[in-house]
Amino acid sequence: VGKDVDVVAEINRLRKEKNAVILAHYYQEGAIQDIADYVGDSLGLSQQAAATQADLIVFAGVHFMGETAKILNPNKKVVLPDLNAGCSLAESAEPNAFRAFRAQHPDHVVVTYINCSAEIKAMSDIICTSANAEKIVNSIPKDTPIIFAPDKNLGRYLIKKTGRDMLLWEGACIVHEAFAIDKLLDLAKQHPHARIVAHPESEEHILKVAHYIGSTTGMINFVKNDPAQEFIIATEAGILHQMAKEVPGKDLIPAPSHEDNTCACSECAFMRMNTLEKLYLCLKYELPEIQVPEDIRLKALVPIQRMLEISK
Ligand code: 13P
Ligand code: SF4
Repeated sequence: VGKDVDVVAEINRLRKEKNAVILAHYYQEGAIQDIADYVGDSLGLSQQAAATQADLIVFAGVHFMGETAKILNPNKKVVLPDLNAGCSLAESAEPNAFRAFRAQHPDHVVVTYINCSAEIKAMSDIICTSANAEKIVNSIPKDTPIIFAPDKNLGRYLIKKTGRDMLLWEGACIVHEAFAIDKLLDLAKQHPHARIVAHPESEEHILKVAHYIGSTTGMINFVKNDPAQEFIIATEAGILHQMAKEVPGKDLIPAPSHEDNTCACSECAFMRMNTLEKLYLCLKYELPEIQVPEDIRLKALVPIQRMLEISK
């Protein structure tokens, strides 16, 4: 992109001209969040994708999010600023291995976290996000055994919350698994009044010391409504942009991770592949486009719609 191009002005012009909508996750860089039509958590984003009247969906997030939007909108173009923006959780569930796992437990209902590929969704009975996972698990009849995939940390948390004995897939988020409990406890000692807020993709020892556990939207609402002044935030650092806007007077401290020598906070390398320039280019050229084979799309649509129905 040439120096003379005003990227923000061009994005604004093009989105009107093309009747495009820009959907962004809280883990995107601040400039992308600021220009988006909607910023939200995975549930909010899928609800927006299901309801949009736009002709072109520009998804500022990772691949599985764009796929979900495409599954819901087969006749619309869905573009992602960088097609390489994947997800460690989604990658952990390889379709052939997952098919074999499911086949070993044919009596189980398959509840799958939205952080997975379209192919995995096509093998699932119902999808959930961190915002509605408890409700979705509780919606399964009590005597029905459950497979939960691919996030073992969220799965373990849900077993505790719901009392359901679920078979867990061994996936994890590299960003949330990087939080260092020893450093977190040290930080909490330095800030004895701080409330610890954690995403359920974090490991059990982090969740044990958290005062609040929830989705990114849930975390923002907690910080907004809780009277405390200081909060330690255990999730991807992009959330701090929106949180700081919502609670300008409060102190938000990113939770420390194991490898934080160069960065004081945790960033998802996949989410950060998207930049404002790439967003501009993908809006302009309508590339790269997300494609989902029709047979997979039709199968994946069923468990997504079940989730959306329960989450109304
Ligand atoms: P939520 O926004 O649903 O909390 O998901 C977090 C996440 O890791 C998305 O990749
Ligand atoms: Fe995947 Fe974790 Fe990145 Fe979210 S933060 S996209 S779960 S790797």
